[in-house]
Amino acid sequence: MSLRLIRSCSISCLRRPDIYRRALFHSTGSSNSTFLRFIATRNMSVFNASRLIGKTVLITGASSGIGAATAILFAKGGSNVILTARRADVLQKVADECTAAHKAAGMQYGGKFVTVQLDVSDKSQINGFLEKIPADLREVDILVNNAGYVVGVDKVGDLSMDNVEGMFSTNVFGLIALTQLLVKGVYLNLRLQLLLSFVDFKKRKTGHVINLGSIAGREAYAGGSIYCATKHAVNAFTGALMRELVDTPIRVTEIQPGMVETEFSVTRFRGDKSAADKVYEGLQPLVAEDIAEEIVWAASRPPHVNLAEVFVLPVNQASATLNYRAPRL
Ligand SMILES: NC(=O)c1ccc[n+]([C@@H]2O[C@H](COP(=O)([O-])OP(=O)(O)OC[C@H]3O[C@@H](n4cnc5c(N)ncnc54)[C@H](OP(=O)(O)O)[C@@H]3O)[C@@H](O)[C@H]2O)c1
Repeated sequence: MSLRLIRSCSISCLRRPDIYRRALFHSTGSSNSTFLRFIATRNMSVFNASRLIGKTVLITGASSGIGAATAILFAKGGSNVILTARRADVLQKVADECTAAHKAAGMQYGGKFVTVQLDVSDKSQINGFLEKIPADLREVDILVNNAGYVVGVDKVGDLSMDNVEGMFSTNVFGLIALTQLLVKGVYLNLRLQLLLSFVDFKKRKTGHVINLGSIAGREAYAGGSIYCATKHAVNAFTGALMRELVDTPIRVTEIQPGMVETEFSVTRFRGDKSAADKVYEGLQPLVAEDIAEEIVWAASRPPHVNLAEVFVLPVNQASATLNYRAPRL
């Protein structure tokens, strides 16, 4: 087949691939797989972010690390973002960065960034949460359940039950409560039910739940019993949710990062920055933006594609406890 024919066919195929595939079959007597592969490759985009334009994304724990980077990347992609976390002042700075990123990307659509203070571990705050979202953003398309933390490396026997409750309330109960709220309203209060009809993924036959799991939800390690237990719970909950929603267009994704350098380890070591830095010594950890890319990638796939699990490690990490650190010179 001449190059000219391939070029003219491929340009037309971009508009009506079905017609040209049929025409090719009639003119050559075969479906010419090399040619079709060529056309398919031409039609493929590396990262089609256009599906994010005008979507509304709700992110928990958007004040730092992965949540903040994700909010900014969605802003670049032309989405609206509802940013939530406990620290209202820090949250506002991230919202301002979203506005700047959206403007710099030259996006015509989306661009609404609102902050709502929310402690996901507090049931009463979740109950009243939807009323705090401006009415024009209540039709959420994508929920990113990102808020989570670990504190301490204590072994069983030395665990503080307050920390155990804190981690479960945030990493598991908060994630479950918010998911319930968006997937299908569970409140009997009539006023809230009216509000919920706007957000309810099931009623609207749309939606994407993206949960932040972890390598700690795939394997347990000493000194991480409670954190690992919370992330195993996230893994089980996410898997069950995906199965329950199999007869709906609602998508469910779990992102499972390995080592990511954020405020995560500083929190784990109760503010001791030098102890946190040691976690990443001698290797290049992931950064928050690496995970944000995976989240936005999952959200921007075609509606029939569900990225069920995304397990992401730095190159020199092979498991929760096995990694390679370059020797000091
Ligand atoms: N970094 C890693 O190596 C790594 C690896 C695997 C998985 N993850 C997971 O990724 C997620 C994000 O972590 P990160 O690395 O980005 O850590 P980070 O920088 O410490 O961010 C954690 C975020 O969660 C928020 N948060 C904590 N408790 C909250 C609560 N009760 N209610 C609402 N928001 C709360 C924090 O905001 P406020 O303090 O303002 O509330 C903050 O925005 C977590 O679920 C974590 O388990 C992290």
